[in-house]
Amino acid sequence: MCGIVGYVGAIGGNDAIDVVLDGLSALEYRGYDSAGVAIPTPEMTVAKAAGELSALEETVSRDELAGEAVGIGHTRWSTHGAPSDDNAHPHCDEAGRVAVVHNGIIENYQRLRDDLVDAGVAFRSETDTEVIPHLIGRYLDRGADPEEAFRLAVDHLEGSYAIAAVVEGSETVYAARQDSPLVVGLGDHGTYLASDVPAFVEHTDRVRYLEDGDIARLSADSVAVTDVEGRPVDRATETVAWDAEDAEKSGYDHYMLKEIHEQPSSLRQCLRGRIDELEGTVDLPELDTIDHDGPIQFVACGTSYHAALFGAERLRTGGMDAHAFLASEYASDRVPVDEDTLVVGVTQSGETADTLRALREADRAGATTLAVTNTVASSAARECDHTLYIRAGPEIGVAATKTFASQQLALALLAFELGDGPTRGELEALRDIPGQVQTILETTDARAVAETFVDADAYFFIGRGYHHPVALEGALKMKEITYRHAEGFAAGELKHGPLALVTEQTPVFAVVTGAGETARKTIGNVKEVEARDAPVVAITDGTSDVARYADHVLELPAVDDLGASVLANVQLQLVAYWVANLLGRSIDKPRNLAKSVTVE
Ligand code: F6R
Repeated sequence: MCGIVGYVGAIGGNDAIDVVLDGLSALEYRGYDSAGVAIPTPEMTVAKAAGELSALEETVSRDELAGEAVGIGHTRWSTHGAPSDDNAHPHCDEAGRVAVVHNGIIENYQRLRDDLVDAGVAFRSETDTEVIPHLIGRYLDRGADPEEAFRLAVDHLEGSYAIAAVVEGSETVYAARQDSPLVVGLGDHGTYLASDVPAFVEHTDRVRYLEDGDIARLSADSVAVTDVEGRPVDRATETVAWDAEDAEKSGYDHYMLKEIHEQPSSLRQCLRGRIDELEGTVDLPELDTIDHDGPIQFVACGTSYHAALFGAERLRTGGMDAHAFLASEYASDRVPVDEDTLVVGVTQSGETADTLRALREADRAGATTLAVTNTVASSAARECDHTLYIRAGPEIGVAATKTFASQQLALALLAFELGDGPTRGELEALRDIPGQVQTILETTDARAVAETFVDADAYFFIGRGYHHPVALEGALKMKEITYRHAEGFAAGELKHGPLALVTEQTPVFAVVTGAGETARKTIGNVKEVEARDAPVVAITDGTSDVARYADHVLELPAVDDLGASVLANVQLQLVAYWVANLLGRSIDKPRNLAKSVTVE
């Protein structure tokens, strides 16, 4: 999500400030809203700035810091706390001896912050990260050496983190990893640290990936990896066969494929700290002040509209009065809206003009507004009364993939927050989704299905209930990256017209899970298709007998409908990706499309 860079130069090595700033620039493709560096020798120098890397370059002098061998840097993609100079990393202890950069979320930061404030510590930012340098500083005050202080501080942290820290006057970088990637590079001119290989791939291709629970000490010519207790652990040195461009995509051919594969971690990030398994509850403190029992309207466009359809159905399942509207049609449809209405704008960019316009209409009518977005401090986040972040991390591919899955999950959390809360089973099902997505990514036959149907005349997608938006989304993904004709239908609608389009040359992808009435009815529609000799691809958990009528099966684990619609969508993302790949399309930048549509 955010980017970390660290360097300890050997004699004859590069200036740390150059390695760190160039490393941050190599991570620029991920997008960020602030950046910063710390050089701890001869005394601590910290520079940081909101905005592009160029803003940071204006506040720091490469010439003045030339000759210094140690440094860390960070690019931030905010998950909470607006992008500002104060919230930018590195963060320091009060004495300014310690500087820390961090990716991830410290779940127990409020408790740690309260304790530190009680002990008289003054905080300068709104971030969870700032507790870390203060903790390190306190252990230094008590006489611990820097490594011990770092280790003791990390031992307090709960949540996900990739951390790099430097201490004034010391030619060492300390690092720790839990649920957030961190990789060490071993070069001829020093050792490197980064959240992602592109940051240092121009200097070395020899890497050691840190694992959860690892603590690393980087010095000019060695890296020592231990557990939190200080016991040595062995991490193999590997060679990455990537050039700089490959490295940006972590070795994937396209950002879209990379982002599809990032879904297990982006979904975990969406859930982190929001479900309490011991209590059996969902908690979204950012929405605590919403007290609403009137109608709920979702407004959104494109893929986000499909997520909104899913969200509205989810809320209706919880007994709420909820409906989704295309943002571009909201005004002309004269949707009734007043001060009793909660209007939810679902928009990953937070900048889509149609969605902002609908939210503004709703605001004018006195409605309460809520933005569900991936972009901190976007227009939607700033203008709405409330904001729920989906925390998917930057998405570079124009076709939305991981943001859709995170929207689905965030809206499921919203339904529990506004409704009666989850049952124990629903909570466990939610928790298991990221791991199940991982299993699909490892076992999918989507590529073989794509090879079979790459020359089809058109592609149709059908689903009912929660799977209807998945059918629409499957078709949209196919259209936008393959440029082929694709349509999604509510399964029952097929016989009311679209069936005339169905031939032997038009595969029909049917999402069917469970064995209840919804599944039975969709299987009825599958039979109608089969009778017209159209090839059928069933996306199914195998609970019903739909496979009997299908030519191909894309398997899902047996889970509840919510989980199944997230998982089925992953299979369809991959089919669209592989068809587009076989056709040689411009997958990350499809023709005529833009990532953020700021005109109505
Ligand atoms: C399709 C896609 C678009 C967006 C739509 C809304 O892959 O990405 O359909 O979903 O333009 O964008 P946001 O979510 O930024 O409001």
